Order: sequence, then C-alpha cells, then structure tokens
Amino acid sequence: MKRRYKIAGGILIFFGVAITTLALVLSHNSACGPAPAISGETVLMKAIVYRCYGSPDVLNFEDVAKPTPADDEVLVKVVAASVNPLDWHVMRGSPYLIRLGSGLSAPNDSGMGVDFAGTVEAVGKNVKRFKPGDEVFGGRDGAFAEYVTIPEDRALARKPANITFAQAASVPIAAITALQALRDKGKLKPGHKVLINGASGGVGTFAVQIAKSFGAEVTGVCSTRNVDMVRSIGADHIIDYTREDYTESGKQYDLIIDMVGNHSLMANRRALTPEGIFVIVGGPKGNWLGPLMGPIKALMLSPFVDQEFGLLLAKLRKDDLAILGDLMQAGFVTPVIDRRYRLSDVPVAIRYSEEGHAQGKIIIDIE
Ligand SMILES: NC(=O)c1ccc[n+]([C@@H]2O[C@H](COP(=O)([O-])OP(=O)(O)OC[C@H]3O[C@@H](n4cnc5c(N)ncnc54)[C@H](OP(=O)(O)O)[C@@H]3O)[C@@H](O)[C@H]2O)c1
Repeated sequence: MKRRYKIAGGILIFFGVAITTLALVLSHNSACGPAPAISGETVLMKAIVYRCYGSPDVLNFEDVAKPTPADDEVLVKVVAASVNPLDWHVMRGSPYLIRLGSGLSAPNDSGMGVDFAGTVEAVGKNVKRFKPGDEVFGGRDGAFAEYVTIPEDRALARKPANITFAQAASVPIAAITALQALRDKGKLKPGHKVLINGASGGVGTFAVQIAKSFGAEVTGVCSTRNVDMVRSIGADHIIDYTREDYTESGKQYDLIIDMVGNHSLMANRRALTPEGIFVIVGGPKGNWLGPLMGPIKALMLSPFVDQEFGLLLAKLRKDDLAILGDLMQAGFVTPVIDRRYRLSDVPVAIRYSEEGHAQGKIIIDIE
C-alpha cells in the first residue's frame, strides 16, 4: 500500500475511534450518588435535586443547605417557579451534546429549575438595585427550591404589582425566548405578517401577545382544543394544525417562529415572503443529531436563498425581563397559566411537560 493511503487510513481510524469514544462517554449514565452529608448546624431548605441523568424518577425532594448570598448576590424566597422543556433536557442530559456543559456522565450541579418569582429576603453588602422585601422575578439554576441566590446584575427584575407571583414565574425563559425570536432574530416591524407555529405552548402564548404588542398581524398554529385560547390572547388568524397544513395554504408570512419543527425547511420556504425570516426555536426530540438537523440544514440553506433561516438560542437578560415587566404592567402581555403543582410534585409536572401539550405555562407553587 502506498504511504499516503496508509496515512489517510490512519487518520480515518483515529477520527473513527475518537468519535466512537466521545459518543460512548457522552451517552454513559453514571449511577445516582448518595445525598451529601449535612452538618447538624446547617440551615436547611426543601429543594428538588438530582445526581444522575434519567427520567423524572431521578428527581428527589430533599433537605439541602439554604444558600447565603455573596457580597454581590440577592437571596430570594421563592414563591413560585415554572417548568420549561429545558428542565427535562438537563434532567435527561439530552441531547447528549448538552452534557459537555452540564456534566459528562452525571450532572455537575444537582439543582433543578430556572424560572422563579419571589421576595428578596437578604442582600450582599455590595448590592444596590434590590433590598429586602422587593418582589422580583428572574432566572437562575436551582429555582425548584425554597430559596435561590443570584448576582444582582444577572437575570433579575422587579415584579410588576399587577401580576401574581405565579404569572411572573412563568415569564423568564419562555417570554424572553419569544421576545428575542421576534425582535432580534425576526426583526419584526409593525404591520408584518407573523406565523407562530406552536402558539398554545409556553413560548407560543407569549409570542402571540408580544407580536401583537409590536403591531404585527398574527397567525397562531395550534390544535382544535386550543383555538379559543389562542384567539383570546390576540391572534388575528388561527390555523388548526389537525385540519390544515400552513405550508400548503398558499399564504405567505414575513416571519415564521417555529417551536415545533414538524415541516421541512423547503415547505416553510413556500410559506415565507421572498425576503421572509424563519426562526427555529424548538424541534423534534432526540439524543443525537435529531434536534440539530433543522439548524444544520438552515445553516447550509441560508447562503443560497434570499430568505433568512436561523436558530435562536435565547439568553436570559435583565434588560429583557424589564421590558417584559413593562409589557405586563401595561396590559399588553398576560401570562397564560396551565396546571399548577406543589414543589414536591415537580416530577409529575415534568412528566406532563414532556408530553408536549402544555396549554401555556406549568407552575410550581412553593409553600
Ligand atoms: N431555542 C431556545 O432558546 C429555546 C428556548 C425555549 C424553548 N425552546 C424550545 O421551544 C419548544 C417549545 O417550548 P415551549 O416552552 O413552548 O413548550 P411547551 O410549553 O411544552 O409547548 C408545546 C406546545 O406545542 C404545541 N404543539 C405540539 N405539536 C404541534 C404541532 N404539530 N403544531 C403546532 N403546535 C404543536 C402543543 O399544543 P397541542 O397540545 O395543541 O399539540 C403545545 O401547546 C421546545 O422544543 C423547547 O425546547 C427553545
């Protein structure tokens, strides 16, 4: 065999072994470890924790150490939290690629939940924006707990007085995602025609209302049982996906926000105006490439067409929380709340979220 074939063969074998090893490491689930010992003097709180990847059975309702705020942190007594698909993605460590951030064969951090609303109980000595007694909402890992600490300059904002803690807790991930998809990726302008695929879920119910507040003409895609709800939050037109396929209707939109990923990009191209924008927010479940195929195809297609296809990765920002607070205060956005669960029932709430048919947001009431 010629030398260059030997080298090429060696490189192929090397990459094959490396990819197989990475795949085995990423997909390996370690056994659940024991709860760490807690000393007798530690002040405790109740929280949902997990020490291994898996189904909601890996979630435990336990006593853990109550956090104390660092100099730049705020300690919040959580009144309500909310569930997002992100919670069961990190619980399962799926798709496996997220384990590069969350921990290879077991989670690095045992806390669960992100969205919360509550009352500031204490602040570190350098904190300027908040004081004990302030009603706040925000996003921080470990929100399925009685208390959470968060640096004051992170995703934390004052709760508008006219909304409840449960409504405020429903906002951070879902509403920020909707806002950034419409405003930043979607470049939404008054009068634009926007289609929201998945209008009845957590992100969708915010997207419909935020798009209306921007002066857009909104079409919501949902199933029959959600038609009245999606109309009631302001959608101008409804497409019942059990009866009609929006990509086959002949209508075209300036912007499509897709929470579902159930139509090909070529089909979505037909439903876009010649310079329309398609924003991928959600897609099919899967441990490997399944959820990534939409974004990969979008990346490959975009340079060759006038329409824009892109993936949104939402970022929790305090300025966007403040904007959403103003929209709620002014009555443009009212969170839609589906089922409510107690903290100890987070595993049941997550099972419900995993079914993929939430009607608005799922709330956890912390008592
Ligand atoms: N990229 C990001 O930064 C980001 C941020 C947040 C969320 N996400 C992703 O966005 C997706 C949506 O999140 P979410 O919080 O809104 O989820 P969710 O609250 O669980 O909502 C799911 C909704 O999708 C609807 N749906 C299911 N099949 C549908 C179909 N074929 N056509 C239209 N609607 C359909 C369901 O309505 P029916 O019951 O009527 O079927 C349900 O209301 C998830 O995949 C999530 O992981 C991404």
